[in-house]
Amino acid sequence: MIKILMVASEAAPFAKTGGLADVVGSLPSALRELGCEVAVLIPRYKGVDLNSARRVYDSLPIWLGGVAYQCSLYQADAGLPFYLLDCPPLYDRPGFYGDAAADYPDNAVRFAVLCRAALAVARRVFRPNILHCHDWQTGLVPVYLRSVFALDPTFIGMKTLFTIHNLGYQGLFPPSVLPQIGLDRRVFHVDGLEFFGKVSFIKGGLIYSDALSTVSPTYALEIQTKEYGFGLDGVLGSRSSALHGILNGVDYSNWSPATDPYIKANYSIHDLSGKQRCKQDLLTEFGLPKAAMDRPLLGVVSRLTSQKGTELIVEIAPELALQDLYLVVLGAGDAEMEVSLRDVAAAYPGHIAVRFGYDEALAHKVEAGADIFLMPSQYEPCGLNQIYSLRYGTVPVVRATGGLDDTIEEGTGFKFREYSARALLAAIRAAATAFADGELWKAMMRRGMRKDFSWRVSAAKYLTVYNELLHGATAESFSGKQDQILSGG
Ligand code: ADP
Ligand code: GLC
Repeated sequence: MIKILMVASEAAPFAKTGGLADVVGSLPSALRELGCEVAVLIPRYKGVDLNSARRVYDSLPIWLGGVAYQCSLYQADAGLPFYLLDCPPLYDRPGFYGDAAADYPDNAVRFAVLCRAALAVARRVFRPNILHCHDWQTGLVPVYLRSVFALDPTFIGMKTLFTIHNLGYQGLFPPSVLPQIGLDRRVFHVDGLEFFGKVSFIKGGLIYSDALSTVSPTYALEIQTKEYGFGLDGVLGSRSSALHGILNGVDYSNWSPATDPYIKANYSIHDLSGKQRCKQDLLTEFGLPKAAMDRPLLGVVSRLTSQKGTELIVEIAPELALQDLYLVVLGAGDAEMEVSLRDVAAAYPGHIAVRFGYDEALAHKVEAGADIFLMPSQYEPCGLNQIYSLRYGTVPVVRATGGLDDTIEEGTGFKFREYSARALLAAIRAAATAFADGELWKAMMRRGMRKDFSWRVSAAKYLTVYNELLHGATAESFSGKQDQILSGG
């Protein structure tokens, strides 16, 4: 039996800021259906509901750099064990990663403790044969495993898979953190954690793991290029035989218009009438006029960052209003982008409306009520909202990059390549023209609604990777290169 311990900084429904949480919240049960035993470890941040959780480990002290972090472990049951690492001085704060002004200054220690705790859990609570780590916050798991614990018999045969959800976030810290995170300078060299003079957590994951994956086939290729590699394209290229591109699945039990409890009226491919009521409800929610019922309503649900192409949306907004198109945006993130969006909404109040903050219910209402969903991302490792949109009959307009390119095709959505306002507008114009032909539009909606991106296929691909790791079929595993990497040679 394959036993997997997933380690991540977020997992739905306990803690979520983006798609990482959706994936870590839903992949485990898909793997369980394939016969794996899976547990998940995330930090217990402020606001994580402990009511349905029980304390399973009172004292799990984590020693790092001469300091003992007094941790304990809660277990919540969401069909499988979700372990919540409790250490109030580190995690009991308003944000997961920082406050409105900046990242927390001790993030290196906060996530190093998570990584060391993962190994403590693997030793004492849930002993896996695969440690599956996600994003930079967990990059030190394989580093500790292959350095500090390299000779520890507990971990013999345990393999690591590191999944990249977003190469743009790397966990970079000054080398002065090394003693605090319990690592000596033996790992700080160009074939180890060093990245332009800094300690890079993600590089730890990329170099010290037995296998790597990312969340779409196209992104797996893109990150090996200069344009998308964020300086790590060389490292990724050197590990390309161990790198797998596995498209994210989605959890349709949370994201289906036929059963969604957040939306005004349920609807399905067989009866689309409820979608009009959802549109009306969305217009009311955002204070837009009834006149929009006959015109295309564009929706955005997004973190507001340059990754997501928020600047392009701001740039085209006046033109949308001029063409009598309507736009609703739900977003949270960069303060300057909020200001720009607020300004265009104020300039075109009858056509453009924005809402800031994180709002799960409203995200569902936008998916259901909009006619067209916009994702003009500069880069997009996978993207989940365009997949949700397909199921809601909300036709996506996306930039052809990463997972957007892999999931949207002619007939289910509109794609553009060049990252420019002009190219985005041209795609929106094509969508608006199609919208005007009611029958053609409905056929397009239905084609999208029929698409199936459930986890079944993708979970089986992860299983293949785990099997290769455990049964030795993978060409390149860490152990063969261990001496070279640890000595910097
Ligand atoms: P990313 O992880 O890069 O943000 P994804 O498309 O993979 O992008 O996933 C985003 C997830 O976060 C979706 O589930 C989306 O509904 C949700 N989301 C993003 N912004 C908000 C928001 N402001 N309010 C509620 N949900 C949001
Ligand atoms: C990241 C990416 C997004 C992806 C998500 C889940 O946040 O930005 O494209 O869908 O992770 O893998």
